Amino acid sequence: MTTDAKILSALRENPDGVSGAQLAEQLEISRAAIWSRIEELRQVGYEIEAGPHFGYRLVSSPDALHADDLLARLAGTLAPPKIIGRDIRVFKETTSTNDVIEKLARDGVKEGVVVFAESQTRGRGRLGRKWISPADKGLWFSILLRPNLNPQETTQLTVASATALRRAIILETNLRPEIKWPNDILIGGKKVAGILTELSAELDRVKHITLGIGVDVNVDASELPPEVRKIATSLKIESGEKISRAELATEILRELDADYAKICVGKFSEVADEWEAGCATIGKNVTVQMGDRRICGRAESLDDDGALLVRTEHGHLERVIGGDVTLEK
Ligand code: BTN
Repeated sequence: MTTDAKILSALRENPDGVSGAQLAEQLEISRAAIWSRIEELRQVGYEIEAGPHFGYRLVSSPDALHADDLLARLAGTLAPPKIIGRDIRVFKETTSTNDVIEKLARDGVKEGVVVFAESQTRGRGRLGRKWISPADKGLWFSILLRPNLNPQETTQLTVASATALRRAIILETNLRPEIKWPNDILIGGKKVAGILTELSAELDRVKHITLGIGVDVNVDASELPPEVRKIATSLKIESGEKISRAELATEILRELDADYAKICVGKFSEVADEWEAGCATIGKNVTVQMGDRRICGRAESLDDDGALLVRTEHGHLERVIGGDVTLEK
């Protein structure tokens, strides 16, 4: 952790205040150095009170995302993440956070690094769609993973991400999101978050995976184009409250790390059970568009790799690993 992350972590652990002397001893730097870091943190929007009786006290944090702050929040949790979130980088603007991760992957960076951007100029969604990413209003981020899976098993990661995302939203809000296979998080039938999994693989071996996640957090209805407003929403629109993006991001990374750990030790079935319980697709009649091919039928279950099993009108069981799923009424 950086010095700033350690200071923020200590301030959060001691809500009533911590003295400069204690901080200096803990971090093995001078009190003057602590004071200068506190000044820097104030400059970027942290409200830190100082007083002779309580030392330093964190009053409020800015809405902007800061890598040190996210690292400090994760370190302060009961079970700090082992892989996802051990390295966090925040950009003011990028083309797409998936592009940044691709570059880091080529440079040989270790798995688990997370890249957030306050805005994306070329955010992308599944099936070549554009992903609108208004500045400072959402969580637009990507994660580099290097799992020991074969390419067919990677749907497991999309399923695990959707499960973790749903759990984090439940923990942070009073909302009840549902999952639409494979990667959409819906509230009241409208999309609030999506996942774009990009794969670099050889025939039988995954080289790396870029897991891109977009969550419409504090986006207002007026910021969504009219045609999108019918099918998309945000956590703020649904809950009527502004949500702390840093808190939600911390929760998501922690939950993702927990589910990733399960997949890495072959316990995907545990994740799949939770997925099925929160899924709006199972038991419904669906239409799946896969390129030129269209399948209509009833979504029955997931298979061991996270693919959707659809019983067609003709009684065949079709295994769906991609495409666009529409829920029929
Ligand atoms: C979808 O539902 O179609 C997937 C949307 C994924 C959007 C996220 S935002 C962060 C990351 N960077 C991108 O360009 N896309 C993903």
